[in-house]
Amino acid sequence: MSHRAGRHFLQIPGPTNVPDRVLRAIDYPTMDHRGPGFAELGHRCLEGMKKVFKTKNKVVIFPSSGTGAWEAALVNTLSPGDKVLMYETGHFASLWHEMAQKLGLKPEFIGGNWRTGADPDRIAERLKNDGKHEIKAVCVVHNETSTGVTSRISEIRKAMDATRHPALFMVDTISSLASIDYRHDEWGVDVTVGGSQKGLMLPPGLGFNAVSNKAMEAAEFANTPRSYWDWNAMFGANEKGFFPYTPATNLLYGLDESLKMLIDEEGLDKVFARHDRHAEATRRAVRAWELEVLCTNPAEYSSSLTAVLVPEGHSADELRKIILDGFDMSLGTGLTKVAGRVFRIGHLGDFNDLMLAGTLCGVEMGLMRSKIPHRTGGVDAALGYLALGDAAEKSTARTRAVSA
Ligand SMILES: Cc1ncc(COP(=O)(O)O)c(C=O)c1O
Repeated sequence: MSHRAGRHFLQIPGPTNVPDRVLRAIDYPTMDHRGPGFAELGHRCLEGMKKVFKTKNKVVIFPSSGTGAWEAALVNTLSPGDKVLMYETGHFASLWHEMAQKLGLKPEFIGGNWRTGADPDRIAERLKNDGKHEIKAVCVVHNETSTGVTSRISEIRKAMDATRHPALFMVDTISSLASIDYRHDEWGVDVTVGGSQKGLMLPPGLGFNAVSNKAMEAAEFANTPRSYWDWNAMFGANEKGFFPYTPATNLLYGLDESLKMLIDEEGLDKVFARHDRHAEATRRAVRAWELEVLCTNPAEYSSSLTAVLVPEGHSADELRKIILDGFDMSLGTGLTKVAGRVFRIGHLGDFNDLMLAGTLCGVEMGLMRSKIPHRTGGVDAALGYLALGDAAEKSTARTRAVSA
């Protein structure tokens, strides 16, 4: 492959850009994971992750991708044959559903249109009809990475509470954690699933569970076979800052650094506000291009990515190829049901205004080279919002009036 000057733009919705500081931290020599120096690092990472999940309960860190953390959530709390209520928000919810089937659970899938999030009323309705409490868990993907739709977890919790159904509540935050506000304890979630490669600004390779007391109790009775994913082994070793098997030592160096950046230096609230602002600027660009944001419910717009529909008869993958070949930027592809119909702009992780400006320029230039019908001006709309916020529209109107 020939050399391409400058930095590649990695604007898929994860893995995200890893800050140089984090890469340097990962570069420290690997240490003895059973030696005295390691325990401090282990404790710091576990405590820091509690702050990210907003929990006072236990957090587990696996050397795994997010899929492993999904499996851990299910096998620790459920038994073969247990009914589980899942919601089809998109590709990732569908994969979690498939996994539940493979593990011998009996998942029921509430069908969705891939343009809206999990509907609290439909979940409540199903729970109300489960008088015998056969459903043992409700599983929802917080931010559906395939569609750019964020489900309203606190509203789902309230709807579940209103039914007084005792099912566990499990939530996948793989593409929302440390990008979009999330509160494990306050929202009464029993198992939250996370991964390292998105909002946490790390390479892939760490999977997380945050675990409520109720989930810990369920784990005592759950008899799905488990070994690698067994929380108990983790809890025991974690007490002293260690892990029951070899942890991903260098990724933990990186996590220690990214937690400093997210919690101590920028602060999570500012991190969330930054993501909200970049998402809004991106949607303004999409509207100005006269393309469609896949998510149809403004209350569920994702702040970590925007999925954009291309008009019927056009290929989103051809556009992505034009952009990759011409401008060295990777955008997310459309997955399964929306393959070829959408491209996804990741605006999460280590990301700032000028990176977003470059990203949107890449998309607009790609559109110009493609045959996709659109208007120019998306970049202008986004820049106006980034520079002036909501005053941007008035200011643009004023500028137009002055130059007319
Ligand atoms: C919402 C969501 N869930 C689950 C996964 C699967 O995680 P992994 O690919 O790290 O196994 C992903 C991956 O992108 C995701 O975005």
